[in-house]
Amino acid sequence: MKRIGILTRDCAGVNAAIRAVVRTATSAGLEVLGVRRGYEGLVEGDFIPLDRRSVSNIIGRGGTILKTSRSERFLDRSVRERAAANLRESRVDGLIVVGGNGSLTGAHLLALEDGMRTVGIPATIDNDVNGVAMTLGADSAVNVALDALDKIRDTATSLERIFVVEVMGRLCGYIAMQVALAGGCEEVLLPERDPDFEMMCREIKAGSARGKKSWIIITAEGRARASDIAEAVTAKTGLETRVVVLGHVQRGGCPTAFDRILAARLGRAAVEALIEGATDICMHMTEVGVSRLPLEVAIREKKTEFEADYRLMKLLS
Ligand code: F6P
Repeated sequence: MKRIGILTRDCAGVNAAIRAVVRTATSAGLEVLGVRRGYEGLVEGDFIPLDRRSVSNIIGRGGTILKTSRSERFLDRSVRERAAANLRESRVDGLIVVGGNGSLTGAHLLALEDGMRTVGIPATIDNDVNGVAMTLGADSAVNVALDALDKIRDTATSLERIFVVEVMGRLCGYIAMQVALAGGCEEVLLPERDPDFEMMCREIKAGSARGKKSWIIITAEGRARASDIAEAVTAKTGLETRVVVLGHVQRGGCPTAFDRILAARLGRAAVEALIEGATDICMHMTEVGVSRLPLEVAIREKKTEFEADYRLMKLLS
């Protein structure tokens, strides 16, 4: 193995992973090519050399210095063949892919169909990669959302208002559940759990009769839009509501210490795995340290059980 490539999606901690990969690889005498703009760049052969200096001062920066994209055409087999050919032409012996389910699926297909050696680093704010306890970027996103929520609470409490806060998570309620628990919220609406809207409104009315006027309801974007919930709550309870949609704020920003350290550990391990000849796997942390998981397992749908956390939040709210 002489030369490896690295391709990424974006979330906090990805730049720290690029740094860890480049510095581990160059220490082992390997060259590194960065793939620009994700799978689109792979199809176009848009590669740039990365050396130790080129990853200076990026450990704390959000996003990805390589830029990224969603590539619909990468779903097409002939397009993937072109991407694999680009890697071979540039004499890339192994590819590290940093991203969520879509990115890891791409890495799995490149290994399966074209014999490319691929190693994944699970990275998504949604923390929805099967078999992986914590994806890169999830801790940072939760902390960004929590910081915003604490500020919203200041106004919610002072003005005695109901706030409905929409967080990211199209298919997964991880951020919503974490933020609701850590932020001491009254209610959370998750894609994984059927909400009891009538019950929620009854609780709000009963609370209001007792003198409790401020509520924070979190909704994951995949369950319901905050504006719809707010409108319905006002209609049912007669109480004033306000809406905050946090949106992509959650995907940017400086990585937490947790994510930087995770990036360092997984980045080094990914390079070492490629050097050892491993392929079609991703790296993740378990109780025993860094472990390997077949990509074929990682890209299966993750089933997360939020019932216990939901009940804890209700008990404490
Ligand atoms: O998969 C991560 C995620 O941030 C989701 O929570 C969100 O729904 C989605 O990506 C948004 O993606 P995009 O910015 O490409 O629309």
